[in-house]
Amino acid sequence: MLDYKNPGLVVETAKVEPGEITWRSPANLAIIKYWGKHGVQLPRNPSLSLTLSSSFTDMLLAYKPKETGERDIALDFFFHQEPNGPFREKVLKFLESVADIFPFLRQLDLTVKTGNSFPHSAGIASSASAMSALALCLCSLEHELFETLEDDGEFDRKSSFVARLGSGSACRSIFPVAAFWGASGQVHDSSDLYALPMADEIHPVFKEFHDDILIVSSEAKQVSSRVGHSLMEHHPFADTRYADARRKIHFLLQAMKKGDLETFGQIAESEALTLHALMMSGNPSYVLLKPNTLEMIERVRRYREETKHPICFSLDAGPNLHLLYPGEIIHEVRVFVDEELMPLCEKESYLEDWVGEGPVQI
Ligand code: DP6
Repeated sequence: MLDYKNPGLVVETAKVEPGEITWRSPANLAIIKYWGKHGVQLPRNPSLSLTLSSSFTDMLLAYKPKETGERDIALDFFFHQEPNGPFREKVLKFLESVADIFPFLRQLDLTVKTGNSFPHSAGIASSASAMSALALCLCSLEHELFETLEDDGEFDRKSSFVARLGSGSACRSIFPVAAFWGASGQVHDSSDLYALPMADEIHPVFKEFHDDILIVSSEAKQVSSRVGHSLMEHHPFADTRYADARRKIHFLLQAMKKGDLETFGQIAESEALTLHALMMSGNPSYVLLKPNTLEMIERVRRYREETKHPICFSLDAGPNLHLLYPGEIIHEVRVFVDEELMPLCEKESYLEDWVGEGPVQI
């Protein structure tokens, strides 16, 4: 089993020059959902996501050698320029948990400055963009100090592995366009431990895909991933769900290779509604869809029926609708969104996002 623990990665502090590393890393939207896990973010079924573009986290990691022999990790933390205690605790706990992989972290004074491009109200899970940005910063720092990750493939794999330890879905944000995570006979080299790039396995139409995020409610409390995943542990439909996800993976991969937007849309919508059906039928039960989410779903389906345009929707663990469509119909869809969906949005607000090129070091 792949294990990145490496006690040899320690520095001679006297030789370390202070420095900083910055990564911008995007959110991703799962088409086949990761919902149910065991161990340290090991998925119960494979998932496949589109990498987004305009929803991202910027993260700067500054480091300098510690002046004392103190072993605890030393971290200053700023979120949107302000110190943030709860986020600092989360990051610190994560850094402690990966200190066997990056033992040099105990030898440095660290500062993290981070912020998101998207508002909290969008209901976009910031853990994927934030944890992938942090994992990329850590791998870059390792390479800076030890020149161990010259090979891009190895750099990405380790970043994805480390991102997964922070938040499962974060391991998919490392790659451009689309990513696959979870051991499956359908994808060569796939693993529960890290995600794989899928850009070369899919039709070009998906490289120009749009995802408009329609804000139905910014108030509604999302089910936290911790609660959501744990709901699957004793869920009466758990095994059926995992088998269904594996079956859908097969058809989704075929459809994405061919550019078959009809099958893609059927699977995306079925996964979105399955995720919510699992929450509704869990114990405790959660209903996160709002009347306007359902109204939007009806309008999207009616519009598709009438125009034959290949648009479809997805959902995260919240009420906001993700409207997915190929870039070539953006002008028609924009009119539909502005006239029919925007009035159903809270404060008439929606975010425009699209499939992107993955993280960049800045
Ligand atoms: C509904 O990755 O947030 O977005 O591993 O506990 O951090 P943790 O969970 P998280 O779960 C994502 C759930 C989802 C589906 C998905 O992105 O695949």
